[in-house]
Amino acid sequence: METVVSGIRPTGNLHLGNYFGAVKNFIKMQNDYNCYFFIADWHSLTTRPNPENIINSARTILAEYLACGIDPEKATIYIQSDVKEVLELYLYLNMNAYLGELERTTTFKEKARQQPDNVNAGLLTYPTLMAADIIIHKAVKVPVGKDQEQNMEMARKFARRFNSMYNIEFFPEPASFTFSSQAVKIPGLDGSGKMGKSDGNCIYLYEDAAAIRKKVMKAVTDSGPAGMNTEKPEVIQNLFTFLDIVSTKDTYDYFNDKWNDGTIRYGDLKKQLAEDIVAFNEPIRERIAEYMANTELLDKIARQGAEKARESASKTIKEVRQIIGFR
Ligand code: TYM
Repeated sequence: METVVSGIRPTGNLHLGNYFGAVKNFIKMQNDYNCYFFIADWHSLTTRPNPENIINSARTILAEYLACGIDPEKATIYIQSDVKEVLELYLYLNMNAYLGELERTTTFKEKARQQPDNVNAGLLTYPTLMAADIIIHKAVKVPVGKDQEQNMEMARKFARRFNSMYNIEFFPEPASFTFSSQAVKIPGLDGSGKMGKSDGNCIYLYEDAAAIRKKVMKAVTDSGPAGMNTEKPEVIQNLFTFLDIVSTKDTYDYFNDKWNDGTIRYGDLKKQLAEDIVAFNEPIRERIAEYMANTELLDKIARQGAEKARESASKTIKEVRQIIGFR
C-alpha cells in the first residue's frame, strides 16, 4: 500500500482553505493508503508562539481533524514533536541543503518581509524540516493545496540529492496529490489571493451561522456585469469558486446563468452562499465541540498515533544512519 503524509501547522483553527485544500483529501485517502496525518507544531515555532498555546493549539487541530472525519483506526494521527526521529533526519538533510536555494524560496522571502526582526534559521530551513516530515515515512503522495508547491519541489530535490549522494535508491520522490484535476487554491472573501490565517480573511470550521453570514455578506464584489456573457473579474470568480465547493450544481448553474444574462444580484448570491457554508459547517462544528470537551480521548489518540509514527520513523532512521556511515 502506498504511503501518504501530510500536516498542518497549529497556528489557529482549521479554515475552509485547509479543509478543501488538504483535509478533504485526507478523509478520502485514509481508506486506500497507509496514511500519516500530523500536526506540525515544530513548524509553528518560526513565529514564536507562547508556551501555553503550544499544547492547546495541537489539541485543537487534533479535535478538528477528528471532527472532519479523519479516523484514528484508519490513519496514523500524531503530533510532530512526539516523533524526535524527524529532527535527526532534518539535521542530515540540512547538511546537504544550500544557503542559496533556501534563500530563494518564495515563502522564505515573504516571511522575511513580514517579520524583518525575526528572520531566523528555522524560517530558512523550513523546507528541509518539511522534507524530513514527508520522507521519514517514505511517502509517495502528499495531499496539499497549491500554496505548498514550492516546498514540495524542494522535498523532491532533497530526496533525490540524498539518493544520488549515497548512490542508492532509498527515498521515493513525493508528489503533491489532489483528487481534482489541479492543485486547489481557496480564495479569501476580501478579494485577496488566498484564504490564509495571516491574511485575516478566513472562515473557520468552528464558526456559527451568525459569524459566517456576517463574513460572507461583507465579501468584496464589484458594480455588476458590464453586459451579457462577460468574463468574471477575480472577486466575482472567487464567489463562484465557493459556490462550486459548498453548493449544489443547480445553485451554481442558477447564479452562473444570472451572471451570463447580466441580471445577477450579488446580495442573493451571498445569502445563498452563506446558508450553504453554514450547512456545511454545522455538523463539523458540533463534533469539534464534543471532541474539545474530551481532552482525555484526544491525548490517548495522540499517544497511540505517536507510537505508530515512531515505529515507522525509527525504521527509516536506522537505515539512514547505516547509509551515511554511522554504525
Ligand atoms: P499550512 O498549515 O499553512 O496549511 C495546511 C494545509 O492547508 C492548505 N491550505 C490551502 N489550500 C488551498 N487554499 C487555501 N487557501 C489554503 N490555505 C491552506 C495548505 O496547502 C496545506 O496543505 N508547510 C505546511 C505544513 C507542513 C506540511 C508538512 C504539509 C509541514 N510539514 C509535510 C505536508 C507535508 C503548511 O504550512 O501548511
